Amino acid sequence: MAANKVILQIRNLKKSFSGKNGEVLAVNDVSFDVYDNEFLVLLGPGQCGKTVMLNMIAGLIEPDEGEIILNGKPVRGHDPKIGMVLQRTALMPWKTVMSNVEIGPKWRGVGKAERQAYCQKFIDLVGLTGFEKSFPAQLSGGMKQRVGIARAYANDPEILIMDEPFGALDAQTRYAMEEEVARIWDQQKRTVIFVTNNIEEACFLGDRIILFSNRPATIKEIYPNEMARPRDMISEEFMKLRTSISDNTDLAIDTL
Ligand SMILES: Nc1ncnc2c1ncn2[C@@H]1O[C@H](COP(=O)(O)OP(=O)(O)OP(=O)(O)O)[C@@H](O)[C@H]1O
Ligand SMILES: [Mg+2]
Repeated sequence: MAANKVILQIRNLKKSFSGKNGEVLAVNDVSFDVYDNEFLVLLGPGQCGKTVMLNMIAGLIEPDEGEIILNGKPVRGHDPKIGMVLQRTALMPWKTVMSNVEIGPKWRGVGKAERQAYCQKFIDLVGLTGFEKSFPAQLSGGMKQRVGIARAYANDPEILIMDEPFGALDAQTRYAMEEEVARIWDQQKRTVIFVTNNIEEACFLGDRIILFSNRPATIKEIYPNEMARPRDMISEEFMKLRTSISDNTDLAIDTL
């Protein structure tokens, strides 16, 4: 990993909010590098400040202090080179799967035939071939997240941010989606920043895992993870990494 090019630099990010009970410091002095095409996992307990951090990286909220540098240039506001998949994908219910995936290319002015062929590739990639004309209400939770992933890829971002995309899914579907996302990343190499509060998910997916403290989010430790893929969750190597992370975490983190 160290030999790879740094694509994104996060420097001294800080953000607080003022509320009824005074000031809440959500993120404090967070700095890290993201390498080109790596699968980076940000692991932290609930409410520690993960979404606030991602929203700053995606340019959706402004940091109080610090900088986000993409390919050597500071990012100001939202940059389409950084795409997002949310915890509960906000699909447009009146649009079909294809129309939802097409939103980005249509916005960019790509003609119909070309954009449909382009989007079909991503619909196939996420395993939704045959569901192009279905509406979101006809899909399961896992399938909706697949549409969200296809839509994010169709925007052709350099960096794909995923904020606990499988948090709302049942355990069985979640395992299946973790395998899917690893396979998709392998086939369509892209830099991914994946947020989770689940240690097992972090160990299964990450090339590196950045472990955060309770709020305010600060970096506790960075774990490189060079285990061969696809990863075996019951191997000794996997258990060892999982245990060393869970021994180092605050209680609110998911150990399963
Ligand atoms: N717009 C806001 N105004 C005030 N406080 C906020 C705002 N956004 C976030 N916070 C506070 O910042 C803290 C961190 O929130 P954040 O959503 O980043 O946590 P998280 O780590 O993503 O949690 P979860 O795992 O539950 O998604 C919370 O205490 C939250 O209440
Ligand atoms: Mg969150």
